[in-house]
Amino acid sequence: MSALVVYESMFGNTKRVADAIADGIAEHLPVETVEVSEAPTEIPVGVELLVVGGPTHVHGMTTVRTRASAALRATSPLLSRGSGIREWLEKARPKMKATPAAAFDTRINGPAILTGSAAGGFARRLRSAGFRLVGPSRSFLIRSKAPQEDALVEGELAAARAWGAALATPIEAKVRG
Ligand SMILES: Cc1cc2nc3c(=O)[nH]c(=O)nc-3n(C[C@H](O)[C@H](O)[C@H](O)COP(=O)(O)O)c2cc1C
Repeated sequence: MSALVVYESMFGNTKRVADAIADGIAEHLPVETVEVSEAPTEIPVGVELLVVGGPTHVHGMTTVRTRASAALRATSPLLSRGSGIREWLEKARPKMKATPAAAFDTRINGPAILTGSAAGGFARRLRSAGFRLVGPSRSFLIRSKAPQEDALVEGELAAARAWGAALATPIEAKVRG
């Protein structure tokens, strides 16, 4: 019984959120956090919760083009330099039917109608791939005018930790029976 957090991150903000979510999950379940290029496409038996997240680019999931644009803007090498969550979800399948899963993104602080959100696309693809979504997707917010690598709105890491703990609580309870 364990959880797996898979993230994509250009400048490090989504990675920090993924790590905080994992800290929250770890209060209830053993958890591993992996960058998307290292993530298995066959989710092993024993993974009772999959959490997937990445940055919002051009109102949705990253593409080859938006990642290239991020690289041009970056002041240091990107964390995720290969393909993204969009491409990984074309191949990722649960080995155990209906493995519980949840999606998150990072996006600019503002109305979602203006910023867009990658998490909806992640959630749709997770469902099509045969995962069972547990709860609504979640956005964690960044400041638009902030140092690239340190742009999270205050309080978002604590919120991410709480979200991770809330996702894992019912799974721990079910597994313990
Ligand atoms: C090419 C590009 C396009 C972006 N488009 C959007 C967007 O449409 N909406 C939004 O809220 N944020 C947008 N952003 C901001 C990203 O969401 C932000 O850089 C990201 O959440 C930071 O996470 P990271 O450090 O893990 O990459 C964009 C960023 C880049 C580099």
